[in-house]
Amino acid sequence: MAIFGALKTYTMKKIAVFTSGGDAPGMNACIRAVVRTGIYKGLEVYGINRGYEGMIEGDIKRLYSHSVSNIVQRGGTMLKSARSEEFRTPEGRKKAYENLRSLGIEGLVAIGGDGTFTGAKLFFEEFGIPTVGCPGTIDNDIYGTDYTIGFDTAVNTALEAIDKIRDTAAAHDRIFFIEVMGRDAGFIAVESGIGGGAEFVMVPETQTDLKSVVKSLKNLRKTKTSSIIVVAEGDDLGNAEEIMQKVKTAIKDPEKEFKVTTLGHIQRGGKPTARDRVLASRCGMAAVEGLLSGKTNCMAGVMNQQVVYTSFGDCIGKPKPLIEDHLKLIDILSI
Ligand code: F6P
Repeated sequence: MAIFGALKTYTMKKIAVFTSGGDAPGMNACIRAVVRTGIYKGLEVYGINRGYEGMIEGDIKRLYSHSVSNIVQRGGTMLKSARSEEFRTPEGRKKAYENLRSLGIEGLVAIGGDGTFTGAKLFFEEFGIPTVGCPGTIDNDIYGTDYTIGFDTAVNTALEAIDKIRDTAAAHDRIFFIEVMGRDAGFIAVESGIGGGAEFVMVPETQTDLKSVVKSLKNLRKTKTSSIIVVAEGDDLGNAEEIMQKVKTAIKDPEKEFKVTTLGHIQRGGKPTARDRVLASRCGMAAVEGLLSGKTNCMAGVMNQQVVYTSFGDCIGKPKPLIEDHLKLIDILSI
């Protein structure tokens, strides 16, 4: 391994990394990249347990290269994750700052989603500790990166389930409503729906028209005996169970059987895919390099194969629309 350049002197000496919000497969690969890039650049790297909660409680430990051995392939996060109410208060943030200051920590890498970045932005504005983020959420709903860490794994987990359900749906000529995660975003539903050959995909970003779903399902019945409908949990018509009841009532066919499967948190765990591990590693390295080059208040993401830094303001504030072609594909391929 080439080590030349590793001894260059940088003004920043100590940084810390933490994961916050909903966990996502690939967070460990990202932590590993942050720790090893930091050490490579001559820094002391610390890990903060349980996100902002641990920052407030001072639950912070030094991490070494061996501390992140054997985690690249694991789901979850070795630093654990939490949603902190106390960090929303000025007193909580002050405590967090005091803990970082007492350890001499001069820069942070925050791995998480929009809630994580909202906290980091406020913290930087109040206390001036530079923070660079990495996009860690299965929902893929962060502006400034084509994909978020964990999304690819979650889609593949959903897809595996859809394939299995398709077998039994076909064997019994049933209509299945499969609920996937996505409170505000339909990316998982759309990509698992395309990959799984779903007849319909229902997402929060578009209005679901019950009448046209019922009409299409009736038409489909002339050529297909079973159907798969993927529902993002945040769809405007309700959750999968509620939508199934509405469709069932409207179809009025006592012969037809309707079933609901909710995939739930299974989508948040498991071994990260190669794509997630590579993305996580790139973002982790870029976050440390960004901090060392004086960047702050921004996220390191990957767009069009290139690392890009996007301000937290844009990551949080700008919507990330679904890909138009993806929606078109579902319509065309389900006939
Ligand atoms: O990680 C994002 C997400 O998976 C959403 O799609 C989902 O609604 C939410 O987290 C549920 O998270 P939790 O159960 O941790 O509150």
